[in-house]
Amino acid sequence: MTHPVSEHIAAAAQHASPRFMPERASSVAGRVDWVFGFIFWLSAFFLALIVVVTVVFVVRYRKRASRLEPEPSPSHDMRLELIWTGIPLALVFVIFAVSTKTYSAMTKLGPGAAPLRIQVTARKWSWWFDHPNGKGAGELHLVAGRPTELVMASADVIHSLYLPDFRLKQDVVPGRFTRMTFTPILPGTFPIVCAEFCGTDHSRMSTTAVVHPNQASFDAWAREGAAPAASLVELGKRVFLAKGCVGCHSPDGSPRVGPTFKNLWGKSEKLADGTAALVDEDYVRESILRPAARIAAGFANVMPPIPLEEREIQGLCAYLQSLQEGP
Ligand code: CUA
Repeated sequence: MTHPVSEHIAAAAQHASPRFMPERASSVAGRVDWVFGFIFWLSAFFLALIVVVTVVFVVRYRKRASRLEPEPSPSHDMRLELIWTGIPLALVFVIFAVSTKTYSAMTKLGPGAAPLRIQVTARKWSWWFDHPNGKGAGELHLVAGRPTELVMASADVIHSLYLPDFRLKQDVVPGRFTRMTFTPILPGTFPIVCAEFCGTDHSRMSTTAVVHPNQASFDAWAREGAAPAASLVELGKRVFLAKGCVGCHSPDGSPRVGPTFKNLWGKSEKLADGTAALVDEDYVRESILRPAARIAAGFANVMPPIPLEEREIQGLCAYLQSLQEGP
């Protein structure tokens, strides 16, 4: 029990999650649960109290044959007014204090190793994570026990990065950077979803956070495929993943928001206006830079223009060609 990670895990285990909640996988999860539980049980107590008192009064002061007129009663009681104003006011201040304290702790980087800073890009409808060593991926890679800061940007509309097991959620807003700071404490894989309705494929805008048990495991992952893209196909595949094409265009023939890329190259694609287009370099280029120009039949006009460099477009064309099944 000398490693800081094992201490974190031991601490997390001591405060095991309630059965109806996901695991507590980050340093802030326990505190967030505590504030949630505090407000929940406080509300439940007063709900029960008010319901019971209401029922007692309804029964006790009901209309009876022997009592047709209301009993005389005072119209004002200063003590009562002060009590039922003062107690809720005090409780609201307590909720404000515990929430603010927790929120403030959540905005500070934890102690320990140098923080891992990761740039996050959200777009319709995928996530992209640029890790500090230059490695980008569609999944978020983290190290257990290492403080982490996510710096998040959106390429189009408002999204929200939500890690239920980490008890973290933060809007990703176009035109500004938002941040999230935390320390993952449990190695494993955890779901990431988008928690802000962002259009057609919002519900499928999900991915995974991979928490490596130690730095060596993270470094080993980061070294995989670190060489620069040697071929156009390789470059195209990276663009396909990094620029979010994969969010709407599958590489394997399965239907998504947009046409699948499998066996698309060289095809005569039926268009929404009844004409057809040959899927070649020019059509691919136009569909990336001005997606609304020629819409494939059966698909909605929802794709935003993607500003790619010429070589990236060439790479995508090569990648599309590589997804053709042989004759
Ligand atoms: Cu992105 Cu919902």
